[in-house]
Amino acid sequence: MATYIVLLGPPGVGKGTQARILSETKKLAHISSGDLFRENIKNQTELGKVVKSYLDKGELVPDDVTIAMIRDRLSRPDCEAGAILDGFPRTPAQAEALEAMLKDFKGSVDAVPYITAAENVLIERASGRWTCKANGHIYHEKFNPPKQAGICDIDGSEVYQREDDKAETVSKRIHVYLEQTMPLVDHYRKAGKLVEVDGTLAVDQVTKTLFDKLKK
Ligand code: AP5
Ligand code: MG
Repeated sequence: MATYIVLLGPPGVGKGTQARILSETKKLAHISSGDLFRENIKNQTELGKVVKSYLDKGELVPDDVTIAMIRDRLSRPDCEAGAILDGFPRTPAQAEALEAMLKDFKGSVDAVPYITAAENVLIERASGRWTCKANGHIYHEKFNPPKQAGICDIDGSEVYQREDDKAETVSKRIHVYLEQTMPLVDHYRKAGKLVEVDGTLAVDQVTKTLFDKLKK
């Protein structure tokens, strides 16, 4: 049966960083809703035009648009063994839609690592983040700088600062998270799927806690 892991946590906590490691180790597709939106914006697709203003403002894209995009992504062949979902679901309606679509793929949400850190940590991480243009590889000017300034270690493309990583937009995203995504913590806790992970520590220590807890 396919394995589906949902990474939950506030903006900048390290979901994308840990999702990449999990996906490589477990050989599961990494699906980041934010990366998919940014790719569509970069390629100026119809979807990109619809979602750009939401991302720029730090608001959530409407559920129907987001759900349709994820359904399409999950039905691709590289998701046959399952996926690491990073940034989806983010509302109760998205969680409900996910359960329904996974039934079609004969699966369900297996575990929900919930990564947390204090607000000042989130702002420091987001405001120092550098993202690679070609494939979204993630760096931080202080905690994980690329070997050569401005260039991605993995694919040699340029790194850039995300438009929504300005301090005021990060604060807005945290607010939106508390209001619209926090109910999912309770939802998955009640379902016995929540795996709480302290995201304050260094990347490798967070990874270790995550893997140790997932084994249990
Ligand atoms: P999205 O791209 O998902 O952004 P986010 O959830 O706000 O999360 P981030 O990507 O900012 O942070 P992250 O947790 O992945 O942290 P990262 O690993 O990069 O969404 C963007 C927008 O798209 C939304 O605002 C919304 O408009 C739209 N959207 C997306 N999904 C949607 C949905 N489901 N429904 C509706 N709209 C949706 O790490 C951050 C930084 O910290 C990096 O620099 C990294 O190097 C560093 N770092 C990571 N871990 C550590 C560590 N342990 N120690 C030190 N530094 C660390
Ligand atoms: Mg991310």
